[in-house]
Amino acid sequence: MGEVLTPELSAIAPAHRPSLSCYCMKPLSPAPVVLVTGAAKRLGREIALALAAGGWRVAVHYRSSKEEALKTVADCSLLTPGATPFHGELDDEGQVRSLLPRVISHFGQVDAVVNNASIFEHDTAASFSFAALEKHMRSNTGAAIVLAQALHEHLSARQAHGAVVNLLDQKLWNQNPDFFSYTLSKAALEAANTMLAMALAPRVRVVGVAPGLTLTSHLLSDEKFAALHKLSPLGRSSSAADVAATVKFALDNASLTGTTLLVDGGQHLMKFERDFSLM
Ligand SMILES: NC(=O)c1ccc[n+]([C@@H]2O[C@H](COP(=O)([O-])OP(=O)(O)OC[C@H]3O[C@@H](n4cnc5c(N)ncnc54)[C@H](OP(=O)(O)O)[C@@H]3O)[C@@H](O)[C@H]2O)c1
Repeated sequence: MGEVLTPELSAIAPAHRPSLSCYCMKPLSPAPVVLVTGAAKRLGREIALALAAGGWRVAVHYRSSKEEALKTVADCSLLTPGATPFHGELDDEGQVRSLLPRVISHFGQVDAVVNNASIFEHDTAASFSFAALEKHMRSNTGAAIVLAQALHEHLSARQAHGAVVNLLDQKLWNQNPDFFSYTLSKAALEAANTMLAMALAPRVRVVGVAPGLTLTSHLLSDEKFAALHKLSPLGRSSSAADVAATVKFALDNASLTGTTLLVDGGQHLMKFERDFSLM
């Protein structure tokens, strides 16, 4: 007798489709749910798509990029049905605290959080201010910790296990004083990565993923970006697909916690006076 595919399974790319034999013995369990912050575009969208291709239902968080978020939702849903958009300003603790409960109330569960959203504004030791530091720390560090805390509470209530992935930056292993407040916020998140892995075990694994120069910014011309991308021991820094595959690996590998995977073509091994990767 031929095997019958459910709509959920048939929507998953064959290479990522779970073996059907396991379903012969037990009832189908729903696809796991992951919240990806800042998933409307750029690296967040790539991560959301890679996870949807791997069978995850994706909660696509966005702030101002609503149209792009809806496109990410539609594209993820073609891979694994159920992707849903969630708006939230991560600078606002109240909105951060309500985000995971909203995702849980929609899906009935959440199994993982990818803290990808990030503010990235230029400052230096000379222009540093409390205001710039606080702005970066709220969105880039505080929000990620509160979401990890909320996932732990939820998984404890379910007696289930899950994972948090924090997007860091190779810059932490290759320090220079550019983007001073951004770098401090990521350094604090890297420290939180270790502490949360200890504090939230065994329910929640916590893994950092640190990209190198991956996508350009408005501060960099295409030519300059292409030239800088080659400036690493491997002759290429990271691609968005490399970063997304590493996030998926971190979620899939049940032994990883309290560590960070650098995905940068070895960029962190090179020392620059200024961090061109971020400009
Ligand atoms: N791109 C790179 O080459 C690179 C290199 C090293 C590390 N990283 C890290 O990788 C991650 C993704 O990088 P990226 O360049 O794709 O990020 P990005 O484009 O700079 O930002 C991603 C999203 O974060 C959201 N966001 C920012 N502040 C927010 C806030 N206060 N509340 C809610 N959402 C907020 C924005 O969503 P909306 O558009 O919806 O407002 C934005 O689209 C970041 O954590 C970054 O630090 C990236």
